[in-house]
Amino acid sequence: MASLFLTKPVEGLIAETQEGSRSLRRVLGPIDLIALGIGATIGAGIFATIGTAAAGDTFRPGAGPALIVSFVLTAIVCAFTGLCYAELASLVPISGSAYTFTYVTLGEIVAWIIGWDLIIEYAIGNVAVAISWANYCHTLLAGLGIDLPRWLTVDYRTAAQKMPEVIAAAPHLLGIPIVFNLLAIGIVALLSVVLVWGVRASSRATTIMVLIKLLVLGLFVLVGLRFVRPENWQPFAPNGFAGIAAGAAIVFFAYIGFDAVSTCAEETRRPGRDLPIGILGSLAASTLIYVVVAVVFTGLVPFPALQQMTASDQAEPLTAALQYVGRSDLTVGLVAFGSVVAHTAVLLVFQLGQARIFMAMARDGLLPASLARVHPRFRTPHVATILTGIGVGILAAVSNIDEMVDLTNIGTLFAFLLVCVGVSILRFKAPDRPRPFRVPFGPLLIPGLGALFCLGMIAHLPRTSWIRFGLWLAAGLVVYVLYGYRRSHLRANGARPSPTPTTDPS
Ligand code: ALA
Repeated sequence: MASLFLTKPVEGLIAETQEGSRSLRRVLGPIDLIALGIGATIGAGIFATIGTAAAGDTFRPGAGPALIVSFVLTAIVCAFTGLCYAELASLVPISGSAYTFTYVTLGEIVAWIIGWDLIIEYAIGNVAVAISWANYCHTLLAGLGIDLPRWLTVDYRTAAQKMPEVIAAAPHLLGIPIVFNLLAIGIVALLSVVLVWGVRASSRATTIMVLIKLLVLGLFVLVGLRFVRPENWQPFAPNGFAGIAAGAAIVFFAYIGFDAVSTCAEETRRPGRDLPIGILGSLAASTLIYVVVAVVFTGLVPFPALQQMTASDQAEPLTAALQYVGRSDLTVGLVAFGSVVAHTAVLLVFQLGQARIFMAMARDGLLPASLARVHPRFRTPHVATILTGIGVGILAAVSNIDEMVDLTNIGTLFAFLLVCVGVSILRFKAPDRPRPFRVPFGPLLIPGLGALFCLGMIAHLPRTSWIRFGLWLAAGLVVYVLYGYRRSHLRANGARPSPTPTTDPS
């Protein structure tokens, strides 16, 4: 049993990162971190999931105008978890993700579970973002007079369940309608090529994309405000707390990404002070933006009309709401354009992140070594990037967005839960280890509340998502037993289970 909890020696890793040629420059301050957090966070969540969260669907009640409360509740859960991420990142100030943090603190099996689980957060999350990207891109192209056939921009099951006209219009092969999301495949393929090539979004490009997102959401609010009718906010919570909680479990998707800030510990000037400011600051900014957009959105469309929206309108709630109040094509086109930009930024960050996680796991011997290969000319992890692209592209072509959002949420909430629990365990296991940042109010209160709220939100996700997620984790354990356990470099090097080291990393 003990060998499952082998930990990677942190001193070696920290020493490696401090070697002149490998050390990263500590250039990021609090404002950079907040911008980075907003860049990785605002995307499909606000542009797509609020339709279903407000209106509800066959399996869950809608929040109605109380969607606003759903956003605030979710922000509180994320704040608790964000503080835990900040403590873990300052404890192990190495670039990486929760996977690296747990490998050096809680042991190999926990790291494997988190790494496997992060595939859901990053890759499946991107499946959802790619589907949503395709929806808005279709609207944008239509506005420019390019009308792509709908059967090339949606998956078969969504069309079969909610869009009979699309099935009827699709070409048939041997009696089977051909319906798949070519647009979603296209964007994933394009970004994969860009990422292999190594054109990493420069910070200037990222800043421009963040500005476009914010400008377009600002435009939605300014234009929408004039058409808001306060009576649409009544009844405020048509399905009571059940609707609010179900809405929170969906819009959680909109917040995923703030945890990316914690991966910059090694490049942050003063991690102990700046990481929590970056995490909480980007959370606060995103929450403010989301609440304002939700106020306007629910003030534009009355709850019964929301429920009657078509599936494609619910998937593009912001443009649908503007069309509902008769706004011009130009405003709708601009919002669709901003949405496409926002989605693209999120897709880039997550495709890049997923490939790096595969690479880290392969370097540790837990996944095949080819995933860690670096292209001789482009210096990028091309095998991991291409495989990620193929997997995400194929799934995006055939999947339903709501199911992918639910699965991403459950996977990410589970990772957050492990991070919260991990922080408490480490306070007892390694009490003396220097922590430039500590979660306030002791080892139990905030991590405990964070873990409890994560569980509460998981409980409000559909049962089918629990089953899918359970099967995914079980498959991961099988892969670990058959592959990672035998090939782990740490085990091969004869490492021993060790208490968490207490070397001061600073
Ligand atoms: N938070 C990210 C988005 O909304 C995943 O697109």
